Amino acid sequence: MNIRRISILVLMAASLVPEYFCAVTAVAQNTKTSPVSPRVEQVQAIVKEAYEKFKGDKNGKNADYIPYLAKVDSNLFGIAIVTTDNKVLTMGDVTYSFSIQSISKVYSMALAMEEQGPDKVLEKIGSEPTVRPFNSPNAVIDMPTHSGNPFVNAGAIATVSLISGSTADEKWNKILDFYSKAAGEKLVLIDEVYKSEAATNTGNKALSYLLAKYDRIYADPFESVDVYTKQCSVGVNATQLARMGATLANNGVNPATGERVIKTENVPHILSTMMEAGLYDGSGTWAWNVGLPAKSGVGGGIVAIAPGKGAIAVFAPPLDEAGNSVKAQEVIRYVADRLYYNVFSPGSVGLQ
Ligand code: DON
Repeated sequence: MNIRRISILVLMAASLVPEYFCAVTAVAQNTKTSPVSPRVEQVQAIVKEAYEKFKGDKNGKNADYIPYLAKVDSNLFGIAIVTTDNKVLTMGDVTYSFSIQSISKVYSMALAMEEQGPDKVLEKIGSEPTVRPFNSPNAVIDMPTHSGNPFVNAGAIATVSLISGSTADEKWNKILDFYSKAAGEKLVLIDEVYKSEAATNTGNKALSYLLAKYDRIYADPFESVDVYTKQCSVGVNATQLARMGATLANNGVNPATGERVIKTENVPHILSTMMEAGLYDGSGTWAWNVGLPAKSGVGGGIVAIAPGKGAIAVFAPPLDEAGNSVKAQEVIRYVADRLYYNVFSPGSVGLQ
């Protein structure tokens, strides 16, 4: 089916759904879609069902160890899907800019691999689940690699320390620029989040010095924590986050800009790490129930990747005990089940 025909179908479908559901399509650039991708009408219907089903769920609690996050409205709720052929489906609070927090770790890992190659990142950081909370000093002491993987705080701070740059500012600008390329638009720091976290991040500073004790940090520890704190304070809305995810789903090419952001050969390493550690000590249950590589952040976002199809990002601040958004997990599980996104399910390759 050619792009013009797809565009007409999507516009027809959009006119059939309620006003608050927004579906747009743009000319896909340099993209390929899985032949078993669900139809856009199907995706719209399922996302709407999920939104209605879970919007009233009051479980979970905003993160409060970063004071700014405790004040974010707990009722905010947005869902965005961006497909590998650049269709954008959104519902709810998708223009609210929230802090990316730990989801940033995926893209800093990607940047470190662009610069150093995957073998170096595996050697210097590791890729093992810690089976402990994301900020655990015990994991640094007990794990043979000490840094664990690029998604726990210790491993993420060590990953930042691997990124080249003669000054902290140079590293930070490089990181922000890389995230912006993955999102397809300029992202900015939420200064209030940065200040709030920088004033309270003694735990991360302690992790950085523990890493230094084991020679597992590769630049000045506190400088690395500061750049890491900035990367966690980058603002994204659900649509931007879904597009960052779609860049991974599309083999490293941003489906909106057509720009290659991540080398093809690095994508499987990133997705496998997301599967094993993206939801911290909730990752095993997530793989069992959902079967999609995903990453959460304490700001309330989760992005999940359906390789070759697209990405879904959900934002809803209340978190469970492991630090993962309750509603985001529910929505993604519901959508993944019904659209056969689970990568372990034969349905994901069209065998139903
Ligand atoms: O360093 C921290 O604790 C936060 N900036 C990020 C933690 C986080 O997002 C864990 N996610 N679920």
